[in-house]
Amino acid sequence: MPALTNKRILLGITGGIAAYKCAELSRLLLKAGAEVRVVMTRAAREFVTPLTMQALTGNRVHLDLLDSEAEAAMGHIELARWADLVLVAPASADFLARCAQGRADDLLATLLLATSAPVALAPAMNQGMWSDPGTQRNLTDIRNRGVLVFGPAEGDQACGDVGPGRMLEPAELLASCAELFAGEPLVGRHLLITGGPTREAIDPVRFLSNHSSGKMAYALAAEAAAAGARVTLVSGPVALPTPDRVNRIDVTSAREMREAVMGQIADADAFIGVAAVADYRPAGIARGKIKKDDASMTIELLRNPDIISEVAELAERPLVVGFAAETGDVAAHGREKRKRKNLDLLFANHATETFNSDEVATTAISADGEIEIPRARKEAVARKMLELIAARLPDKAGQEPAP
Ligand code: C5P
Repeated sequence: MPALTNKRILLGITGGIAAYKCAELSRLLLKAGAEVRVVMTRAAREFVTPLTMQALTGNRVHLDLLDSEAEAAMGHIELARWADLVLVAPASADFLARCAQGRADDLLATLLLATSAPVALAPAMNQGMWSDPGTQRNLTDIRNRGVLVFGPAEGDQACGDVGPGRMLEPAELLASCAELFAGEPLVGRHLLITGGPTREAIDPVRFLSNHSSGKMAYALAAEAAAAGARVTLVSGPVALPTPDRVNRIDVTSAREMREAVMGQIADADAFIGVAAVADYRPAGIARGKIKKDDASMTIELLRNPDIISEVAELAERPLVVGFAAETGDVAAHGREKRKRKNLDLLFANHATETFNSDEVATTAISADGEIEIPRARKEAVARKMLELIAARLPDKAGQEPAP
């Protein structure tokens, strides 16, 4: 099955009998992991109903450019920005002509002008209309603008003719879409990320914890999902919204975090331990609030599980990536920690410069050596980190080679 994990596909449907195949096409795109939003021209609605496409995709179908209610929900510019790919299938002869002219007289034509995502058209029309010099000239203009053209195929046509002009089958269109993203190394990979602090209860109102805003883990999760990875984020308590397309599992204590990680690890391609896990927890949790009658008190602490070390010891382990927030000789501590915990890659940074900050500088430490990532916003650093992680992912057995 070709992978389109987390890719946002804007499916434009124009008026042609092949429009009936869009129900199957959208189903295949969804099954391949894509998010699908549908835009239909007026003529397309004569062949399939918006309700059918809404029911299949789970999203409201976009119909009109000048609909204030629809624009208030997701305007045409927002929709154009949302897409990772605009696929028009079927693309009628009339739509090719409008596209060639760069018109903006309905929502779909306007989106083609507004988007910076790749645009692909899957023509479908009678063989005579396809071969007509007008259509062929339009195609040349469209191709010259960098628009991709998938198909058409030759064969029997709905009108009884035989020849070129049949829309490619949904499975062929799916393969062509997947091929566009096949070079992206994180597409279809499962990244399991921990983030934020853990809290270890002392009594019903008090806990032990670490400094951690969760910003680094959340930036990694967001950037990985945008790059096509399936992302599971096991998060301690933080005040951050869940990034789009990320599956977030909330936990509180280190032991809960361990359980959640072990429940997800089996099909993870990489484990990225960003969480500031509390190393110790109180031996027991007082039932009631402890009274502060005494001048001092003693809390017995037990070691928490070292989640990342457990993952690294698994017989079938994913790529294991750790973080170390250190003081003093950061790189030296990082080197020692990477070896001791048997990690493939470790990012070491200055604890005090990193906490709660939107920026970070870090050193990537592996068995091959060290790479400095200069101070920048955590999102930009996350993209660099993911490049290093992607380059170390082993080839996936069973992964579809690019067609
Ligand atoms: O030993 P230290 O806590 O500095 O190690 C940091 C790395 O180990 C981080 O990647 C962190 O998420 C992970 N870790 C863990 N479980 C623990 C402690 C740390 O997964 N109990």
